[in-house]
Amino acid sequence: MTSNTFQPATFKPSGPLAGTISVPGDKSISHRALILSALAVGKSRISGLLEGEDVLATADALRAMGARIDKTDDVWTVHGVGVGGLMQPGNALDMGNSGTSTRLLMGLIASHEISATFIGDASLTKRPMGRVIEPLSQMGADISARETADHKSCLPLTVRGICPAMPIEYRLPVASAQVKSAILLAGLNTPGITRIIEPVLTRDHSETMLKGFGADITVETDAAGSRIISLTGEAELQPQKIKVPGDPSSAAFLVVAALIVPGSGIIIENVGINPTRAGLFDILQQMGGDIQFQKKRTVGGEPVADIHVRHSQLTGINVPATIAPSMIDEFPILFVAAALAGGTTTTRGLHELRVKESDRLAQMAKGLELLGVKLTANDDGLVIEGSGGKLLTGGRGKPVIETALDHRIAMSFAIAGLMTKSGLSIDDIRPVETSFPGFADLVKRLAA
Ligand code: S3P
Repeated sequence: MTSNTFQPATFKPSGPLAGTISVPGDKSISHRALILSALAVGKSRISGLLEGEDVLATADALRAMGARIDKTDDVWTVHGVGVGGLMQPGNALDMGNSGTSTRLLMGLIASHEISATFIGDASLTKRPMGRVIEPLSQMGADISARETADHKSCLPLTVRGICPAMPIEYRLPVASAQVKSAILLAGLNTPGITRIIEPVLTRDHSETMLKGFGADITVETDAAGSRIISLTGEAELQPQKIKVPGDPSSAAFLVVAALIVPGSGIIIENVGINPTRAGLFDILQQMGGDIQFQKKRTVGGEPVADIHVRHSQLTGINVPATIAPSMIDEFPILFVAAALAGGTTTTRGLHELRVKESDRLAQMAKGLELLGVKLTANDDGLVIEGSGGKLLTGGRGKPVIETALDHRIAMSFAIAGLMTKSGLSIDDIRPVETSFPGFADLVKRLAA
């Protein structure tokens, strides 16, 4: 879990980045692989699992509820307890920094006759949980959360599950794969059909993997373009062998690094390019980025490719709000690309960024301004005037960027540091361990 001791780190201007690398496993797919394996009857094997703190928090919680999870060489083995077979955890579940672990596991527990208390770090404790409490309560779970002065329901919270739960038909009021997945996981142990109407498409790893495990799940699109996801409950899941591809959200930092540092050319092998995740690559190509996808293939139902990236002079664009769900975690690093592009980049429709691991609009605006970037911070997005490839400069001395327990803020500024006149420091590199262990070493290796 993320400790309270800050670990500052410095990132210096860099020569060209070169080399062929891979990035750790996809965080979203890793959580789901562990959870569905724990619900299957028998032994699943997972390779390429992200061994970041967020995913390890999910593994620990599943162990506390009776699943046996071990690792031999590079393969994780999960002995599932079967849908309905979760046991009462003995202690509070510590979710660390991980919103995904919290929301998905709340769904899982909601339809089991067990209860669990969720706790987390200072960042997670501020994040809104009402979005999952509402549908899970409709299904019959009893959830009590800490209510904040501004009427948010937050951790610590306790979920008292119910069995049998009631199937619901639920229209997602926020575009959130976490909310969708929480309801689907609750639906697995609920008699009848649980139906979700998703007006705005979000990452679809849960649907794909549920099919792979043999669940009865269908996805249709209605006349208005909404997806209708129907899951038949009391499912029996078959154990699987899962290969987790590299995380496009982690690759994103290195793709932008190669685009902005002159002379760079890198290859990132085995990266997931699911269209519900790949919005950033589209936008960077529209900005003039030389990004090519080679050896396209499908692994476990997920599209994968090797990504070839070369330094490019980027040009600012208007980023349409409709693309946000497919790059929701990538805006911090897009803002760095925009700060180095020629001209203006405009983003909007990004209220959700204010409730991620930090308020990402506020943290990015603050840090970029320290680096001398001209920008306008609106309520729902940033408008950034790029330097046209010129090195960024702060005031006097080395700017110290505040990362607010947010791994993606830390990594975004680490990459920005490569294109500064005299480097920068971030106040805390530790949060990077939640999603991208080895990040700083990998950047150094590419620059060497
Ligand atoms: C995730 C969904 C996204 C994303 C998060 C991981 C998931 O959150 O920001 O990092 O694995 O389902 P929302 O679905 O809440 O937007």
